[in-house]
Amino acid sequence: MSDAQERAFSELAPHYLLDVPRDVAWTSVHPEARLDVAAEYGRPADLIVEIGSGQGHAIVAAATARPETDFLAVEVFRAGLARTMLDADRLGTRNLRVVEANAPEVLSSYLPEASVSEAWIFFPDPWHKKKHTKRRLVRAGFADNAARALVDGGLLRLATDWEDYALQMREVLDAEPLFERAFEGDWAERFDGRVMTAFERKGIAKGRDIRDLVYRRRPRA
Ligand SMILES: C[S@@+](CC[C@H](N)C(=O)[O-])C[C@H]1O[C@@H](n2cnc3c(N)ncnc32)[C@H](O)[C@@H]1O
Repeated sequence: MSDAQERAFSELAPHYLLDVPRDVAWTSVHPEARLDVAAEYGRPADLIVEIGSGQGHAIVAAATARPETDFLAVEVFRAGLARTMLDADRLGTRNLRVVEANAPEVLSSYLPEASVSEAWIFFPDPWHKKKHTKRRLVRAGFADNAARALVDGGLLRLATDWEDYALQMREVLDAEPLFERAFEGDWAERFDGRVMTAFERKGIAKGRDIRDLVYRRRPRA
């Protein structure tokens, strides 16, 4: 990391970075660790979580534009988290926290059940080589973790520039009884709460179509 990024961790982490009890690996989450959301943000409010927030462009813009809502960026890439904290600090954004952790563990245990109003996954790593597709984040089993964290009626928003990953996302989520489609036709409209990130721009520059999906968490019985 650059000096500025190192400084972000030493000076800004106390304001933004959640101190997560670990299990074995550095980005793991101890299975008994739970985030006290209202205590952390100092108020009760809707919580939006971005999985794989990269440099944080989308979540910092959203958090800054929507001060009444709380935001959590989940990322394993330290330099990206540093950039997110530096940008949030520059803009004076206080309704944002970041966590350096493996997203499935954050969704399956660290966040309390039914605590998240929206979960966003924008341009997740495509792992486009056939032998690597099993590493994709959105695959069978993922939906259970997301459904646990989402409130009844909560939204899971996704976007990708890889057609076969978009098809996989739709197949996985269509098959998941805890979710229902919240779009008409083949794909959702582009989510207007998402600013254009480098990954979206690159996909467009390479001639790839951007596909959005949005699913609603069905009410618990
Ligand atoms: C292709 S980038 C997209 C970043 C951002 N969403 C954007 O549109 O600019 C995917 C990001 O997901 C992160 N990521 C991948 N697997 C993850 C995991 N298991 N937990 C948390 N973040 C993860 C990567 O580190 C990377 O920054």
